[in-house]
Order: sequence, then C-alpha cells, then structure tokens
Amino acid sequence: MYDGWKIIIGIVIFLGLLTVPFFFAGEKATAKPDPKLDTPEIMKLPEAERKCVESKDYMKREHMKVLNDWRDWAVRDGNTIYTSAATGEQYDISLQNTCMKCHSNKKEFCDECHNYTAVNPYCWDCHIEPKEEEI
Ligand code: HEC
Ligand code: HEC
Ligand code: HEC
Repeated sequence: MYDGWKIIIGIVIFLGLLTVPFFFAGEKATAKPDPKLDTPEIMKLPEAERKCVESKDYMKREHMKVLNDWRDWAVRDGNTIYTSAATGEQYDISLQNTCMKCHSNKKEFCDECHNYTAVNPYCWDCHIEPKEEEI
C-alpha cells in the first residue's frame, strides 16, 4: 500500500463531485414558492375556520380576479361587503384591512409566489403594505 492515501483522497474528491448535482437539485426544490400561512391573525382562528374568503384552490388560481372585482365593486358600486360563495361568510371589501390583515406577511406570502413567477403587482404604489414584524 504505497500511495494508498492518494487513492483515498482521489475517492473522496470523486464522491464529492458525484454529490454536487444533488446539492443543486436540493436548492432548486427549496426555491419553489412556499407561501406561509402562519400569521398571528390566521393562527388566532380556530383550526377548522382557518379559511380564506374562498377555497384555497380557487384563491390560488383566481385571487387576481377576486381583487379586481373587489376594487370595481368598492370604487364603482360603493359595495363594501363581500359574501363568500364558498362559506356564506361576510367580509369587508378591502385589500388592506381584509386580505392583508390575515396575510400580514406579504414578503413570505404574496411576494413568495410573485417573485418566483416574476409578477410584480403595482398595487403597493398606492395601497399601504402591511408593516411586518421582524422575527
Ligand atoms: C380570514 C383570514 C383571511 C382573509 C381575510 C384572506 N385570506 Fe387568503 N388565506 C387564508 C387562509 C387561512 C388560507 C389557506 C386556506 C386553506 O389552507 O384552506 C388562505 C389562502 C390564500 C391563497 C392561496 C395560498 C396558497 O398557498 O395557495 C391566496 C392566493 C390568498 N389566500 C389570497 C387572499 C386574498 C387576495 C385575500 C383578499 C381578497 C385573502 N386571501 C383574504 C386566510 C385569509
Ligand atoms: C400561491 C402563489 C400566490 C400567492 C400566495 C399570491 N399570489 Fe398573486 N399571483 C400569483 C400568480 C402566479 C400571479 C400571476 C397570474 C397570471 O399572470 O395569470 C399573480 C398575480 C397577482 C395579481 C395580478 C398582477 C398582474 O400584474 O396581473 C395581483 C393583484 C396579485 N397577484 C395579488 C396578490 C396579493 C395581494 C397576494 C397576497 C395577499 C397574492 N397575490 C398572493 C401567485 C400568488
Ligand atoms: C393609483 C393608485 C392605486 C393603485 C396603483 C391601485 N389602487 Fe386600489 N384603490 C385606489 C384608491 C384611491 C381606492 C379607493 C380607496 C377607498 O375607497 O378608500 C382603491 C380601492 C381598492 C379596493 C377596494 C377598497 C379597499 O380599500 O381595498 C381594492 C380591493 C383595490 N383597490 C385593489 C387594488 C389592487 C389589487 C391593486 C393592484 C393590482 C390596486 N388596487 C392598485 C388606488 C389605487
């Protein structure tokens, strides 16, 4: 066993290189959007009532449309109450005081998806972002 250590170092380097692609694959997996739902306002709700204004699936696909409708109803029609089609629950029509009250973690929620898909809603030019508590 003359140059045995060289072989061992060689094997170590070789194994290191082999695992490199797995490290990168792992990073990609964690970079997928993971919107957080654990805000104080949501955690305050009893577990069975931790719901959005409509079903999660619907909100995922249609929240932009919901917001557009809310704006039109509020600004054009002066309608300030929204009745959920899913639950019959009533909500004040307000981006800041309703959506962002529950989803007060804009960075870990809205931005989490929007950054991933490179959408940048211009709403915050006028509407005030929720103040986020430093954790
Ligand atoms: C009463 C608190 C509450 C309000 C108000 C609320 N949400 Fe939600 N939202 C939730 C909860 C809780 C969930 C997760 C629902 C579930 O898991 O079934 C959710 C889910 C969502 C999702 C899907 C997230 C995902 O991971 O796919 C989107 C998008 C969303 N909300 C946007 C909005 C918008 C936009 C508004 C205002 C129009 C709003 N929410 C109002 C509590 C709320
Ligand atoms: C589950 C991921 C996800 C979450 C959470 C989410 N969004 Fe979105 N949002 C998207 C996607 C994807 C689009 C782009 C959809 C498209 O272009 O068809 C979008 C588009 C929008 C648009 C339309 C923007 C445009 O330029 O067309 C608005 C407004 C919006 N989101 C508001 C919000 C707000 C406010 C929140 C937080 C309360 C939120 N979204 C949370 C995924 C998400
Ligand atoms: C140029 C400024 C401006 C921009 C940009 C803007 N809004 Fe508004 N929005 C307003 C004003 C002003 C009102 C009326 C406020 C009131 O009635 O108290 C309003 C009202 C609303 C309302 C209903 C009432 C409320 O208090 O929430 C919703 C919902 C809404 N906007 C959503 C959006 C969304 C979603 C976007 C981004 C896609 C957006 N707005 C971008 C100025 C703006």
